[in-house]
Amino acid sequence: MYPASVHIKEVGPRDGLQNEAQFIRTADKVALIDRLSDTGLDYIEVTSFVHPTWIPQLADAVEVLQQIKRRHNITYAALVPNMKGLYRALEADVDEVSVFMSASEGHNRANINKSIDNTFPVLQEVVTEALAAGKTVRGYISTVIGCPYDGKTSPEQVRYVAEHLFEMGVQQLSLGDTIGVGVPTDVDALLTYLLEYYEAEQFAMHFHDTRGTALANVVASLSHGITTFDSAVGGIGGCPYARGASGNVATEDLVYLLEQMGIETGIDLGKMQQTGLFMEQLLQKELPSKLTAVARGE
Ligand code: HMG
Ligand code: MG
Repeated sequence: MYPASVHIKEVGPRDGLQNEAQFIRTADKVALIDRLSDTGLDYIEVTSFVHPTWIPQLADAVEVLQQIKRRHNITYAALVPNMKGLYRALEADVDEVSVFMSASEGHNRANINKSIDNTFPVLQEVVTEALAAGKTVRGYISTVIGCPYDGKTSPEQVRYVAEHLFEMGVQQLSLGDTIGVGVPTDVDALLTYLLEYYEAEQFAMHFHDTRGTALANVVASLSHGITTFDSAVGGIGGCPYARGASGNVATEDLVYLLEQMGIETGIDLGKMQQTGLFMEQLLQKELPSKLTAVARGE
């Protein structure tokens, strides 16, 4: 019933840090990413090339990508909203470009300052140029279950955006429960609908744990054949343009759950917990991850 292995994409240095008000020094971000590179992960989203006024924390995106110790077997990815962002990302020689938009109009406008239909041509150009530059391209759809501005999102709205992104040439779509409102029955309804049109391998799930439902939603997704999940070390994260959004499912907690279920992740839990503790030092606070609390000795 469950898959033999799961692919975890670490988004902590991007989704995690973007929500932190206190600026983390570039050298500390680099140290964090270098530690993550040593945990067995093969995918790390390291930063984003958005407008620095919108997300000041990640204004040092080029420097971060240039200073990390890259391993050949790890994909170092970054968010890119438009062509200006793509030029910066290519200058920094990012491995994979992630474009992003929302299934709901309200969040799309708040987050990237455009309507959904006006976002498609912007992302089309980014995807075409990124592929031409030899990069792989991932897509995110936010607010796939609920939106802080518009309320409940329908699976049909998600498919409308997914169809456009796949047609552009996006290779995998990460479906985000941005504000962590979903429960397993919502995930069942969404995936039952989408998998009538697409293959499970075309999707990753991206759960925020605002209401403590992220791991339950992971298990629900596994039973639909989903084998890629995004998570953030320490359980940090959130979108500053989604009121009430909070941390991603913690990578340590996800690794524990999956490995205990007999599902391979390739990640060293002990090293990930130590990285969670390192993240706590950087941010000077206790983080939501349960397995980091275990490592703290609680
Ligand atoms: P805008 O103000 O509409 O941009 O922002 P614009 O195209 O009108 O340009 C205005 C000025 O910004 C121009 O400069 C551009 O050059 C400059 P001027 O000519 O006035 O001097 N500019 C840029 N500068 C640097 N880098 C750029 C860039 N773009 C324009 N890339 C924009 C539109 C999309 C840029 C802005 O709204 C933005 O940056 N939004 C990003 C917000 C964000 O990062 N949100 C969090 C990430 S999404 C998320 O967390 C969800 C996710 O985790 C999944 C989930 O959980 O659901 C992925
Ligand atoms: Mg997110």
